[in-house]
Amino acid sequence: MRLCVVSSPARMGPGPGSQLTGFYPGRWLMLLALRLLFLVPAGEPVGRSDSNMPKAMDNVTVRQGDNAVLRCLIDSGVTRVAWLNRSSILYAGKDKWSLDPRVVIVTNSKTEYSIQIMSVDVYDEGPYTCSVQTHNHPRTTRVHIIVQVPPKIVNISSSVSVNEGSNVTLLCLAIGRPEPTVTWRHLSPTARGFASDEEYLEITGIAKEDAGEYECSAYNDVSSADVRKVQVIVNYPPLILETRNVGAAVGQKGILQCEAYAVPSADFEWYKEDRRLFNGLNGIQIKKNGDISVLTFFNVSEEDYGNYTCVAMNKLGASNTSVLLFEVSEPTSSTQIQEEKTSTILANWKGPGAVLDGNNRAPAGMTPSLWLLVILFVHFLFKF
Ligand SMILES: *[C@@H]1O[C@H](CO)[C@@H](O)[C@H](O)[C@H]1NC(C)=O
Ligand SMILES: *[C@@H]1O[C@H](CO)[C@@H](O)[C@H](O)[C@H]1NC(C)=O
Ligand SMILES: *[C@@H]1O[C@H](CO)[C@@H](O)[C@H](O)[C@H]1NC(C)=O
Ligand SMILES: *[C@@H]1O[C@H](CO)[C@@H](O)[C@H](O)[C@H]1NC(C)=O
Ligand SMILES: *[C@@H]1O[C@H](CO)[C@@H](O)[C@H](O)[C@H]1NC(C)=O
Ligand SMILES: *[C@@H]1O[C@H](CO)[C@@H](O)[C@H](O)[C@H]1NC(C)=O
Ligand SMILES: *[C@@H]1O[C@H](CO)[C@@H](O)[C@H](O)[C@H]1NC(C)=O
Repeated sequence: MRLCVVSSPARMGPGPGSQLTGFYPGRWLMLLALRLLFLVPAGEPVGRSDSNMPKAMDNVTVRQGDNAVLRCLIDSGVTRVAWLNRSSILYAGKDKWSLDPRVVIVTNSKTEYSIQIMSVDVYDEGPYTCSVQTHNHPRTTRVHIIVQVPPKIVNISSSVSVNEGSNVTLLCLAIGRPEPTVTWRHLSPTARGFASDEEYLEITGIAKEDAGEYECSAYNDVSSADVRKVQVIVNYPPLILETRNVGAAVGQKGILQCEAYAVPSADFEWYKEDRRLFNGLNGIQIKKNGDISVLTFFNVSEEDYGNYTCVAMNKLGASNTSVLLFEVSEPTSSTQIQEEKTSTILANWKGPGAVLDGNNRAPAGMTPSLWLLVILFVHFLFKF
């Protein structure tokens, strides 16, 4: 029991150092080792005075991979010195006991006894003891190596593609010392702003707007944050934007358009009544331009006028809309307008075309009724 005094709180000073009084087996090994070195003379009560206590530095905080120097400042009259890692002797005087090549002695003078541990790793964390013997009085002091590790994301969800309405959980696991703080955030500018201060980000009933990039950051105060990104794709069936009816004169060009938002991007089909239209047949062209399907009549004829159906579909569903190609009577001016429109329509969906519709509908509607009047009149003349 006498040996317990060596590491009593009274000798180590008040405060957290008092953990040394705990019974851990290494302590007995350490004392045994010290006794073998004759640092702890048998029968000699120790720890009566603090005057000759070796002065060790404060705890050493070091980043993983860096070197740590353990200094022990000593008084004159010291006869033996040693550094211990828990219960094992690293150095006793100038003699190296440790087999670890990373441990080297840096100063062994009358006033300082210091060693260096190179390329410190997390398992080096713990208490190190400087032990000195002065006039047959053994003294010890203790310093802790605290190893810091920069934050590192070690496991993160891979990018996902899910259907609208599903529940999505994103995971981001990080290591580091101290334990890193993990946060999630949605980077999309139009986002609902999903964010989380946890390793898991749960999105229930995911919407179209929730698609995009999500960023996980892991940080502690050791170094800059580790940041990784995850792409979330949200699939949904086509949504057709409002279409507009188009007027074209016989012999001129006519262009019908159908725009649909969808993920994955929609495929389009065009129908006139129940008849499907195909690219290259009957002087028409069907072309996909991003989200827009363009149906072009190179040389509009009377039979082309009518009601067309655009069907947009992807693996999640289909939707359709109808659009009219109607007749306009002024070939020259309408051709110009038509040409103008084709160049601007892609940039401006509801541009000058809206006006064109209104202006051209009237003559288109009047032409047949005028003809009807003429036919009725001729018919009337022949009756008499
Ligand atoms: C040194 O580190 C140990 C273990 O983390 C702690 O208990 C003790 O209070 C620290 N001492 C000082 C002086 O910071
Ligand atoms: C200190 O002791 C621990 C536990 O035995 C060991 O893992 C570590 O390598 C030692 N470090 C040095 C520098 O001796
Ligand atoms: C990442 O974490 C998930 C969930 O805990 C687990 O299923 C997966 O195996 C981990 N991946 C790696 C590379 O550790
Ligand atoms: C999504 O989560 C909600 C609430 O936790 C649950 O009610 C719903 O059934 C889940 N949906 C799916 C598709 O798992
Ligand atoms: C358009 O079609 C009509 C009748 O089918 C034809 O007479 C005319 O030459 C065609 N115009 C052009 C530019 O192909
Ligand atoms: C065009 O046809 C669709 C159905 O095929 C119908 O719902 C719509 O009313 C028609 N439009 C016109 C202007 O006749
Ligand atoms: C258009 O959609 C309606 C329901 O919205 C459906 O009944 C109809 O069959 C569809 N037409 C085509 C050509 O797909």
